[in-house]
Amino acid sequence: MRQLSKINMLREQLGDIRNLGKKIALVPTMGNLHRGHLSLVKQAQELADSVVVSIFVNPTQFVAGEDFDNYPRTLAEDLDYLQQLNVDLVFIPDMDEIYPQDIQISAEVIVPELDTIYCGEYRPGHFKGVATVVTKLFNIVQPDIAIFGEKDYQQLLVIRRLVDNLNMPITVIGSPTVREEDGLAMSSRNKYLSAAERQQAPLLYKCIKKAVIAVKNGELNYQNLEKEALSTLKDAGFKPEYFSICDANTLKSPINQELVVLAAAWLGKARLIDNAAVQSYDGLLSV
Ligand code: PAF
Repeated sequence: MRQLSKINMLREQLGDIRNLGKKIALVPTMGNLHRGHLSLVKQAQELADSVVVSIFVNPTQFVAGEDFDNYPRTLAEDLDYLQQLNVDLVFIPDMDEIYPQDIQISAEVIVPELDTIYCGEYRPGHFKGVATVVTKLFNIVQPDIAIFGEKDYQQLLVIRRLVDNLNMPITVIGSPTVREEDGLAMSSRNKYLSAAERQQAPLLYKCIKKAVIAVKNGELNYQNLEKEALSTLKDAGFKPEYFSICDANTLKSPINQELVVLAAAWLGKARLIDNAAVQSYDGLLSV
């Protein structure tokens, strides 16, 4: 496994790999790797000949007052995991490498509409930061394939949209959410939960699953399902931001049979997000 922090060195290595006709996959991360990330890496290894994992805690996707300074940084452990998986290249750039100019006056990538709803409404500027850093990583690595977790469903849609709109020759793959035994989606931010909150946390996914089952069983009053879930979460001590049944491609009101249930809620100091797709069912979808 090679660890590189400079773009020119990485490009040199990737050039050699590409010249051999090998397919390259990128798994972008902010480190603090858990089983969820490792499953992205394993999927990348199945789909490509060579895998690059990037580790960069991107400041521009943290909104003022968020946890950028305290975001868990566990580089030594991360490298151990990646070594065990026999990853080819790990890219660990410094801030200056990714943002060579003052961030305030750097070019940015915006994915309109999708970036201001749901998480974008509660974290204004977050998706601009994600879209910008992911575009930079795509330009640096020029992968054939890039893999992202479906847990960050809105992020996945933002990235699919930017790849499509900016004509990037990259196949974006969404990888299924990895969960703890009790259903809680794995996330670096689960560390912020106290022991008591950790017991409560799986309720978010339980509410999502309940809504999925209700929709599959033909319930058409989505607003009621959303209200019910919000009040269950509040009663259990969560501070929900949103709980929504929406179109799986646009995140707007349902217009076809592909739906997703999306939710975000604070529990103590942890902001939890999760989602589940509603597979097609026989019935009308308007409320
Ligand atoms: O999902 C993440 O960890 C980050 O948002 C990403 C895609 C690595 C961009 O910083």
